[in-house]
Amino acid sequence: MPNHFQPITIDDFEALAQKSLNAAIFGYFSSGADSEMTLQRNRQAYDQLLIRPKILVDVEKIDISTTILGQHIQTPIGFSPTAFHQMAHDDGELATARASASLGTCYCAATYSNYSMDDIQKAAQSISKDALQWFQLYVEKDREVTAKLVRHCEKVGYKALVVTVDRPRLGRRLIDTRTGFKLPSHLRLGNFSNEDDDDDARTGEGAYLTGHIDASLSWADLAWLRSLSSLPIVLKGIFRAEDARLAIQHGVSGLIVSNHGGRQLDGCPATLEVLPEIVDACKNTNVEVYIDGGIRKGTDVFKALALGARAVFIGRPVLWGLAYDGENGIKRVLNHLNYDLRLAMALAGTTSIDSISSDYVVPSSYYSFENKIKSKL
Ligand code: FNR
Repeated sequence: MPNHFQPITIDDFEALAQKSLNAAIFGYFSSGADSEMTLQRNRQAYDQLLIRPKILVDVEKIDISTTILGQHIQTPIGFSPTAFHQMAHDDGELATARASASLGTCYCAATYSNYSMDDIQKAAQSISKDALQWFQLYVEKDREVTAKLVRHCEKVGYKALVVTVDRPRLGRRLIDTRTGFKLPSHLRLGNFSNEDDDDDARTGEGAYLTGHIDASLSWADLAWLRSLSSLPIVLKGIFRAEDARLAIQHGVSGLIVSNHGGRQLDGCPATLEVLPEIVDACKNTNVEVYIDGGIRKGTDVFKALALGARAVFIGRPVLWGLAYDGENGIKRVLNHLNYDLRLAMALAGTTSIDSISSDYVVPSSYYSFENKIKSKL
């Protein structure tokens, strides 16, 4: 609930969420794997890139709209899939869907949502018939369960299948072990029957979920996934150029450079560090590259777009907005980031998403005194 303290940064929203949520739930939302090195690195990477502004550019009118997979969106900032939104607010994913539809962005709904994909789609459609939603898929050991989910999500109107490929097993989240995090007993998994739920199955995100996820998933299964629907496939969790090339060969339409918000393999690079090699591997193809992880400011969005991302996605900031004030809280978060992006663009001397190119950014070492002095020797 809003209180007298008015959040004006994403970190403010996070601080308020920490106050309002119980420690186990806040820990589940905020934490990363193991020593959280990658979680921190996702943020730090943005600080290591500097923006070189152009001056005397007419920035009276700034347009942040763009397209992804041919669909128009009002902002290049979409919503990453995150599980269990009802732990943040009773309206859960319905609030997320309505906020996303109101502000004209793309919401990627998670397999492990508390509301069903049908209800989430209806919530978005109640705001706008043009609402854009993608469906994030974990492939289950019981392939028939997955096949049904895929066919159903196409039928109800989701526009892409986002297959998460960085979680054959659940990363180790120390905080969840320490707090004994469980999905609260009154909450359900909206896309599953919940018949085999028992208390043990709810311990951690791991027990139920990892028990069901198919760790044997491999490139050979992509043909099967493609056969289930005509939806474009986006792989989420890509990290290497050679995997990007394999993905292109396997007919994917998009790649999300993601390390699951630092929640899986601790010790892997920040997503921003990996982005250029993936963008390079997709050059001269129709495959679009997106990024998530650690994006908290308009300048972060600017930097990711400058390095070649077609759009960015945010995970935790949506949860902080949801915890703060449901649908309105998420709108405030996105409005804030949109404002911040427009401001960054105006100050950097750009007016459209397409005009944000790599020549606007340099690594901070470019300006180091050491470099400058050495170059004079
Ligand atoms: C996630 N993420 C995630 N990803 C996914 O493919 N399926 C899922 O169910 C979830 N669930 C989930 C829960 C929570 C609480 C978090 C924080 C993250 C990862 C998510 O999609 C995204 O990659 C990261 O959240 C992006 O990093 P930031 O924006 O949170 O720093």
